[in-house]
Amino acid sequence: MIQQMQKYLKSSALFFGVIVAVGGCGQANDPRLGVPLLHAGEVPGYQTVKTFVFEPHCIRCHGNDGGVNLESYQNAKRFANAIKRDVVFGAMPPSGGLSAEQTALVVSWVDGGAPETDQLP
Ligand code: HEC
Repeated sequence: MIQQMQKYLKSSALFFGVIVAVGGCGQANDPRLGVPLLHAGEVPGYQTVKTFVFEPHCIRCHGNDGGVNLESYQNAKRFANAIKRDVVFGAMPPSGGLSAEQTALVVSWVDGGAPETDQLP
């Protein structure tokens, strides 16, 4: 029993450590842990949006082969307004699948001027 509790405490401490590290300042870079939390006034950069939204949901159709290319910052920025519109209205990705957090991340990026890197307040 005590051993089990020790085990539990150890693993929850580890889990907690991960959350704190990730929640830290919205600088998470592990997509398995979900979209990073944004602080008030923080604008996510292209790199963050790419990791959490474009790579898992867009780039298989919007890679570096003409048309809408979301693989590089310069190209993605040109489409920022269309990206926001399509994501908000659910037109992209065509089969849906973005979480509310992912949609919010895209909107914050575009509304914040679509910067390349995260902008802290
Ligand atoms: C299954 C393939 C597929 C996926 C996944 C996909 N798209 Fe598209 N998307 C298309 C096609 C096809 C078009 C129309 C042809 C084009 O402009 O490349 C398009 C067009 C667009 C356009 C241009 C619309 C316009 O009015 O100019 C934007 C912006 C866009 N997609 C954004 C995204 C974003 C952001 C994601 C991910 C959240 C995404 N798409 C995921 C296939 C896809």
